[in-house]
Amino acid sequence: MRMVDIIEKKREGLALAPTEIRFVIDGYSKDEIPDYQISAFLMAVYFQGMTAEETAELTMAMAESGEQIDLSKIDGIKVDKHSTGGVGDTTTLILAPLVAAVGVPVAKMSGRGLGHTGGTIDKLEAVPGFHVEVSEEQFIDLVNINKLAVVGQSGNLAPADKKIYSLRDVTATVNSIPLIASSIMSKKIAAGADAIVLDVKVGSGAFMKKIEDAQALASTMVEIGEKVGRKTAAVISDMNQPLGFAVGNSLEVKEAIDTLKGRGPADLHELCLVLGSKMVVLAGKAQTETEAHAMLEEVIENGKAVEAFKTFLSAQGGDSSVVDHPEKLPNAKYKIPVLSEEAGFVKGIAADEIGTAAMLLGAGRVTKDSVIDLSVGVVLHKKIGDKVRKDEPIATIHSNIEVIEIPKMRILQAYTLSGECTSALSLIKG
Ligand code: URA
Ligand code: CA
Repeated sequence: MRMVDIIEKKREGLALAPTEIRFVIDGYSKDEIPDYQISAFLMAVYFQGMTAEETAELTMAMAESGEQIDLSKIDGIKVDKHSTGGVGDTTTLILAPLVAAVGVPVAKMSGRGLGHTGGTIDKLEAVPGFHVEVSEEQFIDLVNINKLAVVGQSGNLAPADKKIYSLRDVTATVNSIPLIASSIMSKKIAAGADAIVLDVKVGSGAFMKKIEDAQALASTMVEIGEKVGRKTAAVISDMNQPLGFAVGNSLEVKEAIDTLKGRGPADLHELCLVLGSKMVVLAGKAQTETEAHAMLEEVIENGKAVEAFKTFLSAQGGDSSVVDHPEKLPNAKYKIPVLSEEAGFVKGIAADEIGTAAMLLGAGRVTKDSVIDLSVGVVLHKKIGDKVRKDEPIATIHSNIEVIEIPKMRILQAYTLSGECTSALSLIKG
């Protein structure tokens, strides 16, 4: 087989055979195929697309390019959740204890990574004492006993995806549905999930700006899952504004605790119940989503969800008293209100601008080696549809430095106000 023939075949819009796709991924993994040929191949895929069969084969080839986690020692159907990326997305912190409280095993591998705020692990480390250094054996035991544990991500999950993603980043080939879908699914499959629930974001703050594209990405991922024997479901949710109010590590932990107690922001609560219901059904713990929804509402009301969070924190060394005393979480020195310079109704909030403001305050990593400040971030007070008066606080900056002109400007610019009354957005789009 020759790489040049495979590139040509794809360039002409023909479907590749499974052996050809394996040849590309294996060859690139072993450095036998150079970057320039893979770049040309990716551009051909970008323009010609891939069939469902090709996309599934590509996914499995990447999933099998490195370590594959074996979770078979954990009882039950392991369901993982993935979000295509939002700002201040606190859902994992809530969903994990929420579904664990109704008996769904959650064996979560999480990363740190770059971004507006830290990853799930950084957020959890805002809880004094909490750590993710548990052996594989302990991890399995913890999930079997408590239904929930979180460990740091292994360095070698789907290395072929990592290599290809770096190349896509510099060859303008990121935005291709088969490439995005296979990239996401390969990592979930390598991480050992039996079933996968996807939260595909759509809107100004998301990868997918248009509903049709979000729908196409969601169906492609569900189809991959089905073809490779993993039960998969997807939800399309709005990202025309940040989810919830808090963007920042310790601030998001507080927001997660509030939501687990039933007093969280309405949008965050709704999304967690929708995603959680799908997880519960896929795990076989309920027959219908309506039944699952009621089970989840019940554990929020009777305190079992928040209890599951405490048990999980303690089991990994964390001080679970933060759940009833959130003031014990890292607190920023200054709390500075951001006052609106005009009056009107909120029409849009550029989620990535709010995220950047949080990052500039120190909540996220700019480079791999940045040290993040767990206490800082932004808390919004106004969301789409809300009325704002001039000089009314639209947000509060939590900072350890007094001069915050640039983050403040970013927040003001992120808000679009309109003279006319706008209605609140519907969160679930499909
Ligand atoms: N996230 C991923 O993991 N891969 C993509 O290709 C895009 C977003
Ligand atoms: Ca949030």
